[in-house]
Amino acid sequence: MTSLWLAAMLIVVMGRNFTGLEELPNKCLHGKFQKKTSGPEELYLQCSPWQNRSCCTYKTTEQIHNGDIYNFNFNHCPDLMSAQCKSRFVQDLCFYECSPNIAPWIVKDTRTWRKERFYNVPLCASDCEAWFNDCAADFTCTDNWSKNFDWSNGSECTDGECFRNSCPKESKCMTFLEIYGNASNFCETVWDNSWKYTSDSEPCMRLWFNGTDGNPNDAVALKYAHLVASAPNHSHNMWLTSMLVFWILLSAF
Ligand SMILES: *[C@@H]1O[C@H](CO)[C@@H](O)[C@H](O)[C@H]1NC(C)=O
Ligand SMILES: *[C@@H]1O[C@H](CO)[C@@H](O)[C@H](O)[C@H]1NC(C)=O
Ligand SMILES: *[C@@H]1O[C@H](CO)[C@@H](O)[C@H](O)[C@H]1NC(C)=O
Ligand SMILES: *[C@@H]1O[C@H](CO)[C@@H](O)[C@H](O)[C@H]1NC(C)=O
Ligand SMILES: *[C@@H]1O[C@H](CO)[C@@H](O)[C@H](O)[C@H]1NC(C)=O
Ligand SMILES: *[C@@H]1O[C@H](CO)[C@@H](O)[C@H](O)[C@H]1NC(C)=O
Ligand SMILES: *[C@@H]1O[C@H](CO)[C@@H](O)[C@H](O)[C@H]1NC(C)=O
Repeated sequence: MTSLWLAAMLIVVMGRNFTGLEELPNKCLHGKFQKKTSGPEELYLQCSPWQNRSCCTYKTTEQIHNGDIYNFNFNHCPDLMSAQCKSRFVQDLCFYECSPNIAPWIVKDTRTWRKERFYNVPLCASDCEAWFNDCAADFTCTDNWSKNFDWSNGSECTDGECFRNSCPKESKCMTFLEIYGNASNFCETVWDNSWKYTSDSEPCMRLWFNGTDGNPNDAVALKYAHLVASAPNHSHNMWLTSMLVFWILLSAF
């Protein structure tokens, strides 16, 4: 009787789909503005493709477009950023705040404004190239925007006064082309390896997509979730299986 029951459990363990897998692609980043879980929201302009399943709210997306989110100053060089380059960074911020598909790439972070970040998210090469081309002639003074700016006056607004990032000492304003050299170096360095330049022929994320046909990044997250889950849990499964075989043999005598 016991061995029959154990045999049934063995079948369940061997055939089961791992728990949590289906939830993986629907987690929001633990950050300053993201919601706890994704859901439908009405969203502003460039962020609207995410509106069916979104980690951000209307207010956040409006702030992204108006340029003062995190008090981050895109015009840290005397030459103001071009409109087409700015719109690329807006789109990048839409992804950062709104995407429910970043679960497989989440790592811990210890900054005041977020407990998690994403790391090495595969960005489609063509999206990265388009972003870099639109910014190549614009100016910046440092490559690693997550780490290198001078925030010595603080990054929060106090008494209506906002402190902003400024160029590090000894730095010089140069074009993106001079600073980064190429698109892959740009996408991977600017936000400290949040993005990984990835060939279009591999599963990779789109920054610009037409939401009426759904979010193409859903499938990408699912694929990577399965990749992440399959390898380690296989051995876990084998261990459980052999334990059960052992118990069955034991109870048979
Ligand atoms: C496990 O989940 C995958 C993806 O959702 C599905 O294709 C597969 O059929 C499932 N396997 C079992 C045994 O339920
Ligand atoms: C910080 O604020 C002080 C006083 O307002 C100013 O002199 C200084 O240039 C600021 N530093 C930076 C890096 O913005
Ligand atoms: C891009 O630039 C980086 C850093 O300079 C370099 O290591 C890399 O080889 C370059 N990639 C291509 C495809 O040129
Ligand atoms: C960004 O800067 C930090 C701190 O200096 C460094 O640890 C990290 O490797 C840099 N990232 C890139 C992609 O250069
Ligand atoms: C998105 O796709 C739909 C249908 O495929 C089309 O009607 C619409 O014009 C597209 N929107 C944009 C902004 O390209
Ligand atoms: C959201 O979902 C609805 C219903 O499935 C669909 O008609 C619409 O095109 C989707 N996309 C956006 C961006 O609203
Ligand atoms: C797979 O199993 C390992 C070891 O038991 C566990 O640490 C990991 O969280 C599991 N991954 C998923 C996606 O369930």
